Amino acid sequence: MSHSAEPLPMIARRSGPLKGEAKVPGDKSISHRALILGALAVGETHITGLLEGQDVLDTAKAMQAFGAQVERLGIGEWKVNGVGVGGFAEPEGVIDCGNSGTGVRLIMGAMATSPITATFTGDASLSRRPMGRVTDPLELFGCEVTSREGKRLPVTIKGAAEPVPARYKTPVASAQIKSAVLLAGLNAPGQTVVIESEPTRDHTERMLAGFGATITTEVTDEGHVITLTGRPELKPQPVAVPRDPSSAAFPVAAALLVPGSEIRVPGVSRNPTRDGLYVTLLEMGADITFENPREEGGEPVADLIVRHGPLKGVTVPAERAASMIDEFPILSVIAAFAEGTTVMQGVHELRVKESDRIAAMEAGLIANGASVTSTEDSMTVQGSGGLKGGATAVTHIDHRIAMSFLVAGLASEQPISVDDGSPIATSFPDFLPLMKALGAEIA
Ligand code: S3P
Repeated sequence: MSHSAEPLPMIARRSGPLKGEAKVPGDKSISHRALILGALAVGETHITGLLEGQDVLDTAKAMQAFGAQVERLGIGEWKVNGVGVGGFAEPEGVIDCGNSGTGVRLIMGAMATSPITATFTGDASLSRRPMGRVTDPLELFGCEVTSREGKRLPVTIKGAAEPVPARYKTPVASAQIKSAVLLAGLNAPGQTVVIESEPTRDHTERMLAGFGATITTEVTDEGHVITLTGRPELKPQPVAVPRDPSSAAFPVAAALLVPGSEIRVPGVSRNPTRDGLYVTLLEMGADITFENPREEGGEPVADLIVRHGPLKGVTVPAERAASMIDEFPILSVIAAFAEGTTVMQGVHELRVKESDRIAAMEAGLIANGASVTSTEDSMTVQGSGGLKGGATAVTHIDHRIAMSFLVAGLASEQPISVDDGSPIATSFPDFLPLMKALGAEIA
């Protein structure tokens, strides 16, 4: 499955109880960062559990283009021989980041303070997404940026030959913006500071510290103040990538919605900056237990046991949005099967993801019989304990929209189709066999 291939229509039907173990793939955010920091370290970084989705494969290819040696040793097992901070070579060709906002934005940051020039492109979805949110702060370091109308891809960055460090307050809660600035700050002398008013996923900070950089986070009146000391020598570390809580959300939701289900999802990251969906599901009354809490690869993980049961609508406050930003599509499906109203607040960032996720979910859910309304910054689902189904949802080159509607179809009265399931390969290449092995009727 590839997002650039022919559309791949898929269909999901009402299924019997889902049972078994769902070993979801490695965390996408951590996988990108492991490859990028491996490429910026001096020596060999060994990675296990890497997500081999198209987004991450595109980042691996990009790191090779910038001069790192990247080699696949086995399933999820990779090694990266890095070139050191400031050691990126100028790529010969254009850097195609495919569907991946994280890939393109983090790599732009990583190269912006080296005296090289690179041009970035992506697929139709990525080419619609805003890049100014990252290129504007990168210009503070002294790089030169040219881009298409509206600061969209293709973007060319002429990296700063004599970078200066930056101090930047992020205008929206975004780990991609924060990470791009921190990665640029690696090759700037002195201290680069990022201030965020709402905390976002902190994998970049954790991994930079693990690779030996001096990085601190202070909570002040201004918000979370992250300070990185530039020009460290990054020392390679073994990286064990935990399983992705955002991918786990799909089999978890399926088990919650399909009567009689009970599944186990082992080794899922429980990083508090990623945990909002699970907090919300517990408030909805979901039967989820977290067993064997432990630390793996510098991240808290646990095994999830999930059982079907009744759910009730809740209000998800805006302060929680960043910690579950990728989980709102599947939450809107769960909300349709719950009893009562679910209100999702502070979700404007969903409008600039792989698709406008509020519009995509609202349209597909309404077509399948749900009652949904939205504003620029919120979404409300009137749960009625079930969903009629019977319609095709348009996925807009968005993996999470595709998986959300396929999960919905497992418990709806009539089957639910998606026009194109091929983007699922960007983040969850084994989604279909994994779900089928649990008993899901998806084709
Ligand atoms: C990501 C950050 C989030 C998220 C994306 C992955 C990351 O984007 O939606 O899937 O790895 O930093 P924003 O930071 O733009 O919200």
